[in-house]
Order: sequence, then structure tokens, then C-alpha cells
Amino acid sequence: MTSLRIGLAGLGRLGQRYAENLARAVPRAELAAVCSPVESERAWARDTLGISRIYNDYEEMLADPSLDAVFLVTPTSLHATQIERALDAGKHVFCEKPLSLELDDCRHAAAHAAKAGKRAMVGFVRRFDESYQHAFQHIEAGGIGRPFLVYSQTTDLADPSGAFLKFAPTSGGIFLDCSVHDVDLARWLLGRPKAKKVYSAGTVAMYPPLEAMGDVDNGIAIVEFEGGRMAMFYASRTQAHGHDTHTDITGTAGRLSVGRNPRADRMEIADANGVRNTVVPSFYERFAPAFVTQAKHFVDAVLDDTPFELTMDDAVEATRIAIALRESLQSGQPVLLD
Ligand SMILES: NC(=O)c1ccc[n+]([C@@H]2O[C@H](COP(=O)([O-])OP(=O)(O)OC[C@H]3O[C@@H](n4cnc5c(N)ncnc54)[C@H](O)[C@@H]3O)[C@@H](O)[C@H]2O)c1
Repeated sequence: MTSLRIGLAGLGRLGQRYAENLARAVPRAELAAVCSPVESERAWARDTLGISRIYNDYEEMLADPSLDAVFLVTPTSLHATQIERALDAGKHVFCEKPLSLELDDCRHAAAHAAKAGKRAMVGFVRRFDESYQHAFQHIEAGGIGRPFLVYSQTTDLADPSGAFLKFAPTSGGIFLDCSVHDVDLARWLLGRPKAKKVYSAGTVAMYPPLEAMGDVDNGIAIVEFEGGRMAMFYASRTQAHGHDTHTDITGTAGRLSVGRNPRADRMEIADANGVRNTVVPSFYERFAPAFVTQAKHFVDAVLDDTPFELTMDDAVEATRIAIALRESLQSGQPVLLD
């Protein structure tokens, strides 16, 4: 097989970016079909990308025998079932994070994938970012001694329209939606230790409708791992300056920082107000090249039959920890993990 024929489900905020990447930027991918229940999204795929196989029903797309693989950029509440259905239909499957909103569903999907004849991967895009890759390699080479602490944050620009509230009910809450990235990073950069105990807290600083959903717009969390390794996380929907994802990794012989100043570009303004720079407005501007690298990785690994950088077990574990953080937020108590 020289190229992978892909059907993409979900053409929303992120799915359209995936569609453009698969159609134009991933050399061995062929975006052969798309699926969305929304007519305007289907029209977008037809008019913008010239896709002719367009489905409004996921099962119908899966029945298309010409497709080798499926990309899922659908609401998180659908991921686990859609992964299983794709594997049952004989398709390889890539799914956006997180794997699911519930732990049992995660485990069920991972067990299903382990038995399937096709391959499944859940995307954690930061692992494919150049700077995070560089940090990982520096740690692997012993550059900061033994890493024992990760601080990582995912904080979004405040949106006065509150548009994100539309996604909130199916997102699983701020820790599952945002901090799951930081959880995955922490596990990766600390050598995949097992989590023992978590604690979280949060507040509604700007968006009162979140209270009725049991969610917050600013959350903090601590995770204790085995072997004395630790992580602290901060997630927010209310930043004034832009999208600010950054991570510090501390070891016995040094510290690495990734993305501390979330600069939009390399311009710096120096004037009577001081010295400053502009900031990326959203996760996509920050991680756009990594989304392409991640898609290439999936396509190449399937075509060349080489391992994925991250496993379904990694996806289950990140989700398990994020779900425990959600439980701790709701109970106000630490949660012990076995
Ligand atoms: N990696 C990241 O940084 C990142 C950032 C944003 C979103 N995400 C993830 O991407 C996923 C999608 O997020 P989004 O912001 O694009 O959401 P969205 O609501 O904008 O898009 C969801 C899409 O799924 C479609 N859809 C709904 N039901 C469907 C079905 N049964 N079959 C096929 N399509 C269906 C909708 O029409 C829409 O096109 C979520 O799981 C989210 O966690 C990841």
C-alpha cells in the first residue's frame, strides 16, 4: 500500500483543520471521505476540499470498502464506541483526545483494540511538538539528571461570548478536556510512572453557567506518582493575554521549560510602556505543525507497520488520572488510585 485512504468523522472546530491537513499536508494520506451530521459542514468539505464521498451517517462511511482508516474528531462522548465500530469494520483508527469520558469505556475500547486485527491510536498532539520532543530527548540523554517534578498548564484565552459553553457539557469538564494533555505530558516526561494519589480544586471566576454543570473555569491539581515523582497542573478558560500552554520539568541536575512565553511570533515591542510580545490566541496556532506531524506519524506507522509513539494504555492512563481529578473536584477529597 503506498497511501492510506482515510475517512474523517467530525468537521467541527478541529475536524476542519484535520481535513485540510490530511488533504494537503500529509504526503501518504488520501482524504477519501468525510462524515458529519451537519449539512453546512458537509458543504464545506465539498466546496473547499472537493471531497465527493460525503456521508451524514458514520455507519454508512464505515461500510465504504475503499477506506483503510478512519480519523475521529467527533465529540468526546462518542469516541470509545466509534473506535470500536471502526475496528469492527476493519479500519485502522486515529482518535482525538481524550479516549472517553468514563473509565469503563476507555478500558473496553482499549481491550477491543488489543484484540482487533487493525490498529488504534489516540492523539496527544503535544508529544509531536518540536519543543516537547526536544525536552524529551534532553531528559532521555540525562540532561537534567533524574526528573521528579512536572508543572504544566493549559490555559485558554477568555472568550467574552462564552462560546466554549456549547462544548462544556460533552467535554467531561476542565481536567478531562484540558489537563488531560498535561497529564499525558507528565507521564511521558517522568518515565511513565504509575499515579498513586490525586487532589484537585477549582473556581468559577467568569462563567457562572458552569456551576450547574459541576464544572469550573479555573482548576488546579496535584498528582503523586510512584518513586517520589510529582506533577502540578493548572487549567483555565479565562486568560486575558491568550492561549498559554507551558511546562517546567525539574530534575536533580537542572530544569527545562517549554513554551514559557507563548509568543505569537519573534517580534518584540519595546516602547514607553515597556518590552512585550503578542501571544498565540488559541491552541491551534500554538500546535499547528504538531497536528501535521502527528497525522504523518499515524499514517507512516500504519503503512510501514512500525509502532505508534503512544499506546492505547497511555490513553487509558491519562484519562484515568483526569477522571480522578474530576472526582476530587466534585468530592473535595483526595482520590487514591490503585
Ligand atoms: N488536541 C487538542 O488540542 C484538541 C483541541 C480541541 C478539540 N480536541 C478534541 O477534538 C474533538 C472535537 O472537538 P471540536 O472542538 O472540533 O468539537 P466540535 O463540536 O466543533 O466538532 C465536533 C464535530 O463532530 C460532528 N459529529 C457529531 N456527531 C457525529 C457523529 N455521530 N458522526 C460524525 N460526526 C459527528 C459534529 O457535526 C462536528 O462536526 C473533541 O474530542 C476534543 O476533545 C482536541
